[in-house]
Amino acid sequence: MTNFKFPDNFLWGGAVAANQCEGAYLEDGKGLSLVDLLPSVEEGRWDALVDPQKTMATKYNYYPSHESIDFYHRYKEDIKLFAEMGFKCFRLSISWPRIFPNGDETVPNEKGLEFYDKVFAECHKYGIEPVVTINHFDTPVGLMKDYNGWANRKTIDFYLNFCETIFKRYKDQVKYWMTFNEINMILHIPMFGGGMDITNAENPEEMKYQAIHHQLVASAMATKLGHEINPENMIGCMLAAGTTYPNTPNPNDIWKAMEADREGYFFVDVQARGYYPSYSKRLFKEKNIQLKMEDGDLEVMRDHTVDYVAFSYYSSRLTSADPEVNKETEGNVFATLKNPYLKASEWGWQIDPLGLRITMNAIYDRYQKPLFIVENGLGAVDKVEADGSINDDYRIDYLREHVREMGEAMEDGVELLGYTPWGCIDLVSAGSGEMKKRYGFIYVDRDNEGKGTLNRSKKKSFDWYKKVIETNGTDLA
Ligand code: BG6
Repeated sequence: MTNFKFPDNFLWGGAVAANQCEGAYLEDGKGLSLVDLLPSVEEGRWDALVDPQKTMATKYNYYPSHESIDFYHRYKEDIKLFAEMGFKCFRLSISWPRIFPNGDETVPNEKGLEFYDKVFAECHKYGIEPVVTINHFDTPVGLMKDYNGWANRKTIDFYLNFCETIFKRYKDQVKYWMTFNEINMILHIPMFGGGMDITNAENPEEMKYQAIHHQLVASAMATKLGHEINPENMIGCMLAAGTTYPNTPNPNDIWKAMEADREGYFFVDVQARGYYPSYSKRLFKEKNIQLKMEDGDLEVMRDHTVDYVAFSYYSSRLTSADPEVNKETEGNVFATLKNPYLKASEWGWQIDPLGLRITMNAIYDRYQKPLFIVENGLGAVDKVEADGSINDDYRIDYLREHVREMGEAMEDGVELLGYTPWGCIDLVSAGSGEMKKRYGFIYVDRDNEGKGTLNRSKKKSFDWYKKVIETNGTDLA
């Protein structure tokens, strides 16, 4: 039991992304998403992510996103199960190449729009509020190939055309939007975050920050547009969060940790406060970055800040100022040392529920805007017993402790709109392309090679989460 009482309108739900669950990768006029080019981990997914040109030219044997879990054809069954758990909201993304197959068309693909008409209608049938990510790692391949994605300013217009189309079409269906998923991912995996290739850039850092500038302008313009089309719209930004701890009390380590956090805050500083942070001047100088801006860019950022700050939280991070010590972190998307006080998942992601409370307080102190936890969860291997049951107590433990700390943070005064654990139904892992890294309350019978019936079944955590929602977070046992 937590002492905290969640507000009656608290948005309990779950989260997915189009490219990781829909499948039907070329159906009804959909174009290719960059994720559709990515193979499994065995065939070199990581290499593919860092070298888009090579990836576009390579034929792999297996592409996990092509069928994924076939949400495209099974959404009714899946949403029914979400409703049975009592979901108040469901976070999903709209596949950009399903609506604009190459990305630069002026006229949208009607069939693609119809799919989301049906999905939103199904949600509302059960009183589930859709929470929509506009761009979740799936820039159309056409934009990557013909324009180098967000490195090119023209992509702002293509994105805004996409935004205008969906804001208008789903005006009465969707109120909660997020402009970009994990916007800071572009710094670490520019192909995922920016649909772009930096391998031949003279100054890759400059190219990344130019693309970031384009995204930040686009995000502010989308916020403006969204509010004009429907003043009721709640438009948020979305950060891959997780506070960075210093490895020791050495002030050098403390400073390093602060710098690491600022890497991510940089984005939200603009999106939530409306201007480039003071430390950006030095950052640009040291990285020899000269941003190209147009008249009006800074004004639109200033005048159109977000309504809420959404974020994903899987773990805290740990860093050292000593390069020898920090060596251990090389190769991680978000560099982190092993924290001796924490246990880790089978994929090495460290488990730190109190870190969620720390992160929530840090973000809220900084921005004073409502927060929304739109991803959190444990990727684990699940075992199906002979009787078909799946006893994922480890997942229940993980979520219970995080929900508890979420309550504590709210008791601390943090305003939180809702909680949507990641991969509420098993789906393809973004990082590794695996199916065996499962997050769901609902099991999907499919393996890493794409074999399986795709049948859905409830895990033990399904009933647990149902009870949490039913009791509005008072019974976490
Ligand atoms: C976040 C992404 O980075 O983490 C999701 O927004 C992703 O798309 C999730 O799936 C978990 O990562 P992974 O690699 O375990 O799928």
